[in-house]
Amino acid sequence: MRIIVTGGAGFLGRHLCAKMLSLGHEVLCVDNLLTGRRENIEEFEQNSAFRFFLHDVTTPFVLDGPVNAVVHMACPASPPDYLRYPIQTLEVGTIGTRNMLELARAKGARFLLTSTSEVYGDPTVNPQSEEYWGNVNPIGPRSVYDESKRASEALTMAYRRAHGLDTRIARIFNTYGPWMRPDDGRVISNFVMQALQGKELTIYGDGSQTRSFCYVTDLVEGLVRMLLAESDSGAAGASGSEWGINYPVNLGNPREEKVVDVARIITQMTGSSSPVKFHPLPTDDPKLRCPDISRARRLLRWEPIVSLEEGLTAVIKYFRKCLGS
Ligand SMILES: NC(=O)c1ccc[n+]([C@@H]2O[C@H](COP(=O)([O-])OP(=O)(O)OC[C@H]3O[C@@H](n4cnc5c(N)ncnc54)[C@H](O)[C@@H]3O)[C@@H](O)[C@H]2O)c1
Repeated sequence: MRIIVTGGAGFLGRHLCAKMLSLGHEVLCVDNLLTGRRENIEEFEQNSAFRFFLHDVTTPFVLDGPVNAVVHMACPASPPDYLRYPIQTLEVGTIGTRNMLELARAKGARFLLTSTSEVYGDPTVNPQSEEYWGNVNPIGPRSVYDESKRASEALTMAYRRAHGLDTRIARIFNTYGPWMRPDDGRVISNFVMQALQGKELTIYGDGSQTRSFCYVTDLVEGLVRMLLAESDSGAAGASGSEWGINYPVNLGNPREEKVVDVARIITQMTGSSSPVKFHPLPTDDPKLRCPDISRARRLLRWEPIVSLEEGLTAVIKYFRKCLGS
């Protein structure tokens, strides 16, 4: 396959590019490096099956030749990033998504959107299944990300209904692994970096809020299965119980952990004596986050296999290397 990966120089994009190249596909990585890094993709740049395009997807992307799939991952994803780039985040999820859907339509390509568990906002049900519509504050600071992704999903479904485009939507829950930026401000990178540097571990709120953490190789396996799965035979108006692969699928690890427990596990695993410091909970911070992955199990025969402890071992090793220790 010849695949476009937008956001391919970011954390998850980098891993997806590596996986698709290893499976023998041609990968065209489109990224404006807003939150991604050229060093993430350096090792692919000698590979003739890989090409990098420095391009902002809010401008149409023109390319000669066939394309089999567009994986639209471009979007700032960590809270400090999307709060720093609020307008860009909204634009990439609306104008950028529309441009990439148009590209897929023009090429007759399959389209996979990487959406997020943040479409569920601060949920009133736990775990969250794909049929839950969410509890999102449309005007709060986080809305730039949550609503951008909700608009991306709406656009994707509209292209499927209006143009019969072969679309897929992965709702990704917190994912971690090597190649995260040490300073990206996500829970795992924050805690590991703070523990390794002997700094206080920053906990927002009392730490009783829950998160689920998926290791990156598990997540990428789920994305690849979504991308390669056979399309549904129609059912554009199906109800939840009939939903097939062209409807949203949660990808995440159903092991739910309190944030304060994750801090303790990381402190123990790094052998750090760092204390924890509690800070006020940011506005609209979700109190619960846990995926119901029944659909991924049924449709993709997928579930995570890497334990939190195994994944953290790899991340701690990676960040130690980043710190030169
Ligand atoms: N990592 C997670 O835990 C997680 C969870 C849920 C959803 N996601 C989704 O997965 C995708 C990738 O996330 P990530 O963690 O790798 O984030 P990331 O910030 O590391 O990667 C995003 C990439 O998109 C690029 N980008 C941003 N705006 C762009 C634009 N206008 N044009 C071209 N490129 C642009 C950035 O430069 C970066 O390389 C995002 O869509 C994110 O919403 C990630």
